[in-house]
Amino acid sequence: MEIIDLRHFGAAELRPLLTEEAQLWSERMSWDYHSSAEMILRYLDSKILPGYAAVDNGRTVGYSFFVYEGSKGVVGDMFVAAQTESGLGERLLNHVAETLQNSPGIHRIEAQLLLHDSGSTSTVFKRRGFRRFPRLFMSLPLRAGLTFEAPDLRSFTLRPWAEPDFQPGASVIMQAYAGHVDSEINDQYRSVAGSLRFLNNIVRFPGCGTFDPTSSFTVIHTASRAVVGMLLCSRVREDVGHVTQVCLLPEFRNQGLARALMAACLRSLLDRKFTELSLTVTEANYNAVQLYERLGFDTRRVFDAFVWEG
Ligand SMILES: CC(C)(COP(=O)(O)OP(=O)(O)OC[C@H]1O[C@@H](n2cnc3c(N)ncnc32)[C@H](O)[C@@H]1OP(=O)(O)O)[C@@H](O)C(=O)NCCC(=O)NCCS
Repeated sequence: MEIIDLRHFGAAELRPLLTEEAQLWSERMSWDYHSSAEMILRYLDSKILPGYAAVDNGRTVGYSFFVYEGSKGVVGDMFVAAQTESGLGERLLNHVAETLQNSPGIHRIEAQLLLHDSGSTSTVFKRRGFRRFPRLFMSLPLRAGLTFEAPDLRSFTLRPWAEPDFQPGASVIMQAYAGHVDSEINDQYRSVAGSLRFLNNIVRFPGCGTFDPTSSFTVIHTASRAVVGMLLCSRVREDVGHVTQVCLLPEFRNQGLARALMAACLRSLLDRKFTELSLTVTEANYNAVQLYERLGFDTRRVFDAFVWEG
């Protein structure tokens, strides 16, 4: 078994592995991984994707890649073909973490490995000084007639996400996550500039599915016309929605606004015959987990987020 720098690879050598990986994303998360796979293959052909691949007798059997975002490294993914020697995934992640920790100017590393069960990759990250945050992948089957009970909005208006919402939306995200466990996991939430980058990635780029403006809403305080909360939803398969963000300013919580946002999102998805809605939430975010459970979401998987600060 050889571990080789990904930049020596071309798309053709990785394509069969990514096809196998897409199968797993579909089984475990009802996620159509093909467009993400195509993006990875394009980067691979440009020889600009940092990471490692494992080759056994001429066959590519595993890979892991990462990206540099300023002084932060983000582990993109890791996948190992079925029936490959045990421990290969951890070996690849160890190479990735070691490379990032030794990269000049890198002071922070984040990893969220949705495809892997909580605990299954923790040894390597723990040994390298990372903190671990278990996260839940929750989902809800959608059937015709399903509704979420939500209170009367009274002094608030819901309106579909629109272009002018970027700047106020970024400010809402930063305030909503101040002192919150999720801003430990994703440092973009700690500043307006970072939250704007987060919104740009979600809305304009197809990394986490394709943004679905029809089922994404902002909450407006009618009297002041201020944005006080939002729900963003993407399409991760033709008939599956995934909530990528839901948050309210602290002073507007516990009035049923998140419920109202979820109800509006649900209506839009049902109108278009979606069959499932999913989301991820940090296990320690009890309020949010409770809200989703009361709406009928079930935990389908538990995975880990890891963070290292050097
Ligand atoms: C999680 C979060 C979005 C919930 O928003 P919210 O608007 O406060 O949620 P809701 O008011 O709709 O519901 C939450 C709970 O508030 C309480 N609540 C709802 N309506 C209420 C009312 N009219 N009066 C008093 N309490 C009420 C209930 O306990 C409710 O749960 P229930 O509806 O199952 O009874 C919000 O706390 C938040 O922004 N947190 C920070 C960001 C975050 O964690 N986002 C989720 C990431 S996965």
